[in-house]
Amino acid sequence: MARLPIKTFPDPGLSRPCRQVREVDEDLKQLAQDMLETMYAAPGVGLAAPQVGRDLRLVVIDCVPRDEEPQPMVLFNPRIVHMEGQVIFEEGCLSVPGFTCDVTRAERVVVQAMDAEGRPFTVEGEGLMAICLQHELDHLDGRLFLDRISPLKRTLYKKRRLKQLKRDAE
Ligand code: NI
Repeated sequence: MARLPIKTFPDPGLSRPCRQVREVDEDLKQLAQDMLETMYAAPGVGLAAPQVGRDLRLVVIDCVPRDEEPQPMVLFNPRIVHMEGQVIFEEGCLSVPGFTCDVTRAERVVVQAMDAEGRPFTVEGEGLMAICLQHELDHLDGRLFLDRISPLKRTLYKKRRLKQLKRDAE
C-alpha cells in the first residue's frame, strides 16, 4: 500500500468529469487500497480518484466514528438511483484546505456501484453516509462542495485560496 499525494483546489483535474471504469483489474484494486490508506492517513471520511490525480469513477468511503471498527467501502462507477429528503451539514474536503461551509443535500440516497472486487452492489445511505456519498460522487462529475454554496462565499474562498498559494510560492 502507498499513500498518494492529494490534489487541491484549483487543480484543473478536480473540475473535470471522470471516465467510467471498464474493468476492475489488479491495478485498480491496488489503487482503491492506496486511496483508502491515503484517506485514513489524512484523515478523511471519503476520497475520490480525481483527488489523487486519476480520471476514473472510483471513490472510497468510511464514515463510521474513528473509535469504532473501520468499515472501508470501495465504489467503482457509483451512481445514485434514489434520493429523498433534505439535510444541511457543514462540509469540508481534503482538496479544499482551510474551509468548511453548510451544504444542502438529500437526506437519504441509494447508490449502485461495483465493490473492491468488481461485484455489483447497492448501498443505502442515511445521515453522514448519505452526505459523504453525495459529496464523493460529486467529485466524479468535477464538482466540489464549493459549487454548491452561495456565489459570494465561493468567490471569497477562491480569492483567499489564490492569495495563500501566491504567498506560499514566494
Ligand atoms: Ni471532497
